[in-house]
Amino acid sequence: MTKEPAKARIAVVGAGLMGHGIAQVFALAGHEVTITDTVMQNLNMATSRIAANLRDLGDDENAVSRVRPCGDLADAVRQADYVVEAVLEDLPLKQKLFAEIERHVRPDAILASNTSVIPITSIMQGLNRRERALGTHWWNPPFLVPLVEVIETQWTEPEVVAWTMALHRAAGKKPAHVKKDVPGFIGNRLQHALWREAISLVEHGICDAETVDAVVKASFGRRIAVLGPLENADLVGTDLTLAIHNTVLPAIDSRPGPSPYLQGLVADGRLGFKSGEGFRKWSAEEQAALRAKVMQHLKASRDS
Ligand SMILES: NC(=O)c1ccc[n+]([C@@H]2O[C@H](COP(=O)([O-])OP(=O)(O)OC[C@H]3O[C@@H](n4cnc5c(N)ncnc54)[C@H](O)[C@@H]3O)[C@@H](O)[C@H]2O)c1
Repeated sequence: MTKEPAKARIAVVGAGLMGHGIAQVFALAGHEVTITDTVMQNLNMATSRIAANLRDLGDDENAVSRVRPCGDLADAVRQADYVVEAVLEDLPLKQKLFAEIERHVRPDAILASNTSVIPITSIMQGLNRRERALGTHWWNPPFLVPLVEVIETQWTEPEVVAWTMALHRAAGKKPAHVKKDVPGFIGNRLQHALWREAISLVEHGICDAETVDAVVKASFGRRIAVLGPLENADLVGTDLTLAIHNTVLPAIDSRPGPSPYLQGLVADGRLGFKSGEGFRKWSAEEQAALRAKVMQHLKASRDS
């Protein structure tokens, strides 16, 4: 039987953007954390990145002493109660890695993948103990965005889901149980339903990209952090929601694939920040200002 979440030994595989942040959250919650990576430069940077984040956030800087970098995967996972993988988004890589992890862990260890979009079922199907495997989808940055989607597969034992939910709740996260392993889980399905319509409005000349963003930020964006869509539907009434859907749903974009407008941007090399232009043009200063604004907002809303 695994230990109580309060005293778990955590192994994080992959020390990049997400992995070091996930390690930070668990260390701050009092767990002993090992972290491993195949790229030594990334592994070596993990603890200094965590220390810098803790300092910046005003969190207990001693937490970094609970994170032990390991160059060897077997060493990192051998004692773990819980292993979370955050390597590159590549299915064969993740499948091979979990097969290897399974050879080194205790039989009762829980194995989790932080994949963004790959079905957990595909990643875990080849494992011998897939009943102890599941998905945990964190959001960037892991130490500022509260949600962790906990994704159950057809094989996951209920006890494994419950333990993982408790582990994340005790670490100050807001775990959400995803009962079926569907593409995009919950958060990205909702987010990309909105993005599809946002792109469609621009594509069909109803407004420009800047206006789409201005409308969202100045209207339902103002209340969405405290009023979810279904709370909102109840607030206005399901009858009014039905009437609106009767009129609006036939008119909004329901094409199954990506927008041709989006495909055109990518084909033209308009890739967003990385090329200086996407839906809009972005100078280096504008990019830095927007990134800083988002971080400032996330920090300010951290405890709400
Ligand atoms: N970046 C995000 O916003 C975000 C959000 C949620 C989920 N994710 C998912 O988290 C995972 C990691 O993303 P990231 O943004 O941290 O990527 P990243 O490129 O910053 O880090 C990935 C790390 O994995 C390491 N790695 C590669 N192969 C490895 C192996 N065999 N063993 C150990 N380490 C290995 C790399 O060296 C790198 O340090 C991906 O599956 C991604 O889709 C990312």
